[in-house]
Amino acid sequence: VQTAQVIDLRPFARDELVAAHNALSLAFGSDPNAAERDLDLALFTPEQSLGAFDGTDGGASIVGTAAWYDLPMTLPGGSAVVGGVTWVTVAPTHHRRGILRALMSRQLADLHATGHAVAMLWASEPAIYGRFGYGPGSWHLSGEARRGAAFALPVTVGDVRLVVSPSADLLSPIYAKVQPTRPGWYERTPDWWAYRLHDTDDVRGGATSLRAVVIDGEGYALFRTKNEWGSGGADGTVTVGEVCATSPEVEARLWRFLLDLDLMARVRFWGQPVDSPLLHRIADARRLEAKLAEALWVRLVDLPAALLLRAYSAPVDLVLEVVDEGCPWNAGRWRFTGTACERSEDPADVTLDVRELGAAYLGGTSVASRAAAGLVQEHTPGAVAQLSLAMSWHGRAPHSPIVF
Ligand SMILES: CC(C)(COP(=O)(O)OP(=O)(O)OC[C@H]1O[C@@H](n2cnc3c(N)ncnc32)[C@H](O)[C@@H]1OP(=O)(O)O)[C@@H](O)C(=O)NCCC(=O)NCCS
Repeated sequence: VQTAQVIDLRPFARDELVAAHNALSLAFGSDPNAAERDLDLALFTPEQSLGAFDGTDGGASIVGTAAWYDLPMTLPGGSAVVGGVTWVTVAPTHHRRGILRALMSRQLADLHATGHAVAMLWASEPAIYGRFGYGPGSWHLSGEARRGAAFALPVTVGDVRLVVSPSADLLSPIYAKVQPTRPGWYERTPDWWAYRLHDTDDVRGGATSLRAVVIDGEGYALFRTKNEWGSGGADGTVTVGEVCATSPEVEARLWRFLLDLDLMARVRFWGQPVDSPLLHRIADARRLEAKLAEALWVRLVDLPAALLLRAYSAPVDLVLEVVDEGCPWNAGRWRFTGTACERSEDPADVTLDVRELGAAYLGGTSVASRAAAGLVQEHTPGAVAQLSLAMSWHGRAPHSPIVF
C-alpha cells in the first residue's frame, strides 16, 4: 500500500514549472492552456512552492502541488503581507493517501519559518480546509438584478467612459485609492493586473470581450454583455465583475449605467461584497436576488503576531484556550487584550479552534455566530460577546475581488 511516506516533498525547480502547471490543470479537470500558464507562472515564486513527487518511480512524476503568493493586504485597521495559498492539488491517481495533509502541514511550517503570520486561500470545496485551521473569513454575494431596477434615490449617470479591453494603466490608479480601505483587497503588481484583465475566448463564455465603465480617476466596473433575443424581444445579459469606486456616489453611477444598458434584460453579478450598497439602493429589493457564499479562508499561522496586526472595535481582555493541531506553536492559553497577546496560566474564558479566530480575523464572520453553531465554548459568561464585538469591524466588510 502506498502512503505519504514514499512521497517526496520539495519546492519546484524553475525547469519543472511547465510540468507542474500541467499537473495542476489535470487535477482541476482542465486542459493545459498556455495563456493561463504564462499568467500563473508570472505570479509564481518557485521557492514558495511545494511539489509532491512519487518516490516509487524515482520521483519523476508530480502527484501534488501547492504554493503561496505574497499578498500585501488590507486588514481591519492595519495591513500585512499574507501568504495567499494557491495551486493546491493532488493527482486523481493519488487521492486519499494523505498527500494533501502532508502538503498543508509542510506549507504551514514554511509560512511560519518565513515570517508569515496569516495565510488565506480560496477553497474549491468548503469542506476541505477547516481541518487545516482555515476558517471562512469573508463572504460574498452573487446573483441577478432586473434591468432598469429603480433606485430609491434617483441617480444621474453623468459623464462616464465605456472602454473596450481596458488597460491596467487606466484602472490601477483608481484601484490603488480604494485598496487600502477594504479588508481583503491587496496591492496589485502589473502581473496581477494582467491576471485580472486576462480576456481570451475561453473565459468569455459566449459574451463580449471585457469592458469597463469608467469615471476618470474615481471609479470603474468591469463587465461583459451577451446579446440574446427571445420570443419577447431583447433578452441580453450583463455580467458584472469587479466594481471599484472611491465614493458611494461614484458607485451608484456605475451601477445605474450597468442597470440601464440597452437591449439587456438582467444584470448578473458575481462575488460582490456583502455590504454592497446596491442591496440598499434598489427601491424594490425583490428586483435583486443574491446568494451568499464563503470566499476567503483565513488561517492564523503565528497567532500572537497575527492578532496584533489588526485593530479591534472594542476593548477586550480574555484568556483564550486555542486548539491548533496543524501549528502546535499556537496551541494553549493566551491572554489577549487587543494590544498584547501573551502566554497565560489563568483559567480560560473561551476555548476555540484556531479556525474560529481565522474566521473572525477580517471582521466578516462573527465569533458569536460561530459560537451559536457550537464551534466556540464559553466558560465565562459574556466572554463570547466581548470577543465577538472586539473582532467585528466598523469599516467596510472584507472582500476579495480576485480568486487566486
Ligand atoms: C482536494 C484534494 C487536494 C485532496 O487531496 P488528498 O491527497 O486526497 O487528501 P488527503 O488524503 O491528504 O486528505 C486529508 C484529509 O482531508 C480530507 N479531504 C480530502 N479531500 C477532501 C474533500 N474534497 N472534501 C472534504 N474532505 C477532504 C480527507 O478525508 C482527509 O481527512 P482525515 O485526515 O481526517 O482523514 C484533491 O482531491 C484534489 O486535488 N482535488 C482537485 C483540486 C482541488 O480541488 N484542489 C483544492 C484547491 S482549493
